[in-house]
Amino acid sequence: MTTTEIPGANAASPSGSLRGVKDIPYHREGLPWVGPPLAYRKDPFGFHLRAYRRHGPIYRTRFRGRTYVVLAGLEANDFVWRNTDVWSYGATNTAFGEELGSGHVTQLDGDPHRARRKTLKPAFGMEAIARYLPTIDRVIAEELAAIPDGEANLAEVFGPILLRVNSRTTFLARLTDSMVATLDEFEWQFLFGTNLGRWRHLYYARPQYRRLKAKTFQIFREVLAQRDALGALPKDNFSALEEANLEAGNPPFSEWEKENYTYLTLVAGVHNTANLLYWCLVYCASRPDWTARLLAELAAWSTAPFPGMQTFPLLKATIQEVMRLRPGAIVLPRHAGRDFEFAGYRIPAGTPVIHANTLVHFLEEVYERPMEFLPERYLNGRSYPPKAIGFFGGGTHICLGMNVTNIHSPVALANVLRNYEVLFEQSPSFEVKLAVGGNRMRADVPVRLVRREPGGAS
Ligand code: HEM
Repeated sequence: MTTTEIPGANAASPSGSLRGVKDIPYHREGLPWVGPPLAYRKDPFGFHLRAYRRHGPIYRTRFRGRTYVVLAGLEANDFVWRNTDVWSYGATNTAFGEELGSGHVTQLDGDPHRARRKTLKPAFGMEAIARYLPTIDRVIAEELAAIPDGEANLAEVFGPILLRVNSRTTFLARLTDSMVATLDEFEWQFLFGTNLGRWRHLYYARPQYRRLKAKTFQIFREVLAQRDALGALPKDNFSALEEANLEAGNPPFSEWEKENYTYLTLVAGVHNTANLLYWCLVYCASRPDWTARLLAELAAWSTAPFPGMQTFPLLKATIQEVMRLRPGAIVLPRHAGRDFEFAGYRIPAGTPVIHANTLVHFLEEVYERPMEFLPERYLNGRSYPPKAIGFFGGGTHICLGMNVTNIHSPVALANVLRNYEVLFEQSPSFEVKLAVGGNRMRADVPVRLVRREPGGAS
């Protein structure tokens, strides 16, 4: 395919007048070099909004110590997601390959990526997760009830709970408390490192991380051995992968594949969902009127009519609105795997690109009063406008675990809201705390979960 055949590319340029990277407007804020990264850290959404308003859907800026071309807005989402083959995920997501192995799905491109996604599909389709709804509901209820005196750090409470859920559903395993703590910490440190650019080498070289990683992979081997000892395949999503693989006539999984799929079905993404739940509870606390209506809806809570969530429109709307307002990955770095054209500019292969995938969440021409928590906007069958939600990314690399989150988050939120009043020790902050490039919480937000009396009031 030549660059001129890329769908959506070059839409805004008069033909024959393509300009080069050096002609792309440079977005400055504050001091040269350090100004843009500092402004981004202070106000990530505002930074890209100001740049977009000033320059339009393409501009350059400094990020992680280098100059990037930024693609932003609806047209950028359409272009980036429709042309996944323009991007070299191998060049962008190197850290995933270094830490988890070169076959890890996140940093594969082209056919190897397609093949890996196909292999993984039996464990991550909606049905594959939804079949566990009653168990997910029960485990979350049990885990919440087991929190001593209901006192918890809201920013960190859901990671271990979701690990327990996975160990009772998608990857059946007997996990001790210490195993859960290790997996929880590994997931946090590993993902944190992926956001550090070149500094990740120093971060990952720390003896503390090396030990943590060794312990984590030892746990993977231990839980895999637990399965072997059973003699028969446990009925979980890891087994679904093994079965589908053998049915397709492929050789049995290698040791690396087994460990990698253990990571994906047991550990991956728990903090992303935990972060979403954190923000759901913070926003619910900010709108008692909405939360009262939501509680009334949840009086009829049951996982039976759940799929599609039509029966719980307010619960669904709450999560949709928080996904819009508090995306975990605010921007996604990309690397041009080949030349492409966008908005009248020719970008050569090798150019570092940032896709401001969530900028559209905050455009008033897309969402009325975009900075406000207004879940009402999704009632009566309304949803996000096309290309206007970047929460799970898009294109062929769209989040593998989105169905996991789309099931775990409403079930967990319903469980907390129905059964507990969440008392914050201090008013929670709405400031976006960046875990270097991400919006995941790692903070101390003490809360008390006070059990509600049967019938609703606490
Ligand atoms: C709130 C929850 C989550 C958020 C916000 C989130 C966000 C994202 C985003 C933005 C991407 C990048 C997509 C792109 O490049 O366009 C992604 C990819 C991915 N996510 Fe998630 N994620 C979540 C939950 C999960 C869960 C529960 C899992 C568990 C398996 C998971 C596994 C993955 C994997 C493996 C990829 C790479 C997919 C590929 O490259 O083909 N995520 N996620």
